[in-house]
Amino acid sequence: MKVIALGGSVLFGDFDIKRIKSFAQVINRYNDRLAIVVGGGKIARKYIEAARSLGADEVTCDTIGIDVTRINAAVLATSLDNAPLTVPENFFQAKELLERYKRIVMGGTFPGHTTDATSALLAEFLRAEELLIATSADGVYTKDPGIYSDAERIEKMSPDELVEIVSKNSIRAGSSSVVDLLASKIIQRSKIKTKIFFGTPHNLERALKGENVGTLVSY
Ligand code: UTP
Repeated sequence: MKVIALGGSVLFGDFDIKRIKSFAQVINRYNDRLAIVVGGGKIARKYIEAARSLGADEVTCDTIGIDVTRINAAVLATSLDNAPLTVPENFFQAKELLERYKRIVMGGTFPGHTTDATSALLAEFLRAEELLIATSADGVYTKDPGIYSDAERIEKMSPDELVEIVSKNSIRAGSSSVVDLLASKIIQRSKIKTKIFFGTPHNLERALKGENVGTLVSY
């Protein structure tokens, strides 16, 4: 059993139906059990920005974000074979559904983090053999490649090194980290083998086949 984190922008692009279908085909071709956590993407950010500028507190903004991730999850679920249309709202429901279906798709769970952390918690809870994080970066870099031209992509690193790099990044206001801090902490505490890679259907297929794509986080 593997867990996949599919960023909202990665899955939808600019609401490109062909792209969603390509991801669905890759997932449908995979023969073992899969749990997929879908992010919110641009649409979630728009809703959150609107609510925040109207005076919403952060918990409310997060809750709006979670609702969007669940709508995105429901859309992907419609294109999968042997997956329920129900979007589990917590890890226990996800586990129960996985006993009856080959694959499940969920969104976020509770406020305070992103779906990266949801996917790491789900991988921990399900004792998944691997967590595959399909994101908009092609791996983890030694420092922020958007700022430093000498930043280098890391092929393999330990969970401790991941936590160290992510902690440094998240101190800078406005800098976006390749995975969120809570996700990296969960990966560390349960030593979850994780691949972080640029989210295309082709790369997802390679990662599912056991190939190394992007950055491998493992001891
Ligand atoms: P995302 O996981 O999509 O965040 O959740 P993101 O950083 O925008 O990731 P990409 O761009 O899809 O890769 C959207 C928002 O929903 C809330 C947070 O506010 C998050 O920023 N959220 C999501 C939660 O509060 N809890 C969750 O479990 C999931």
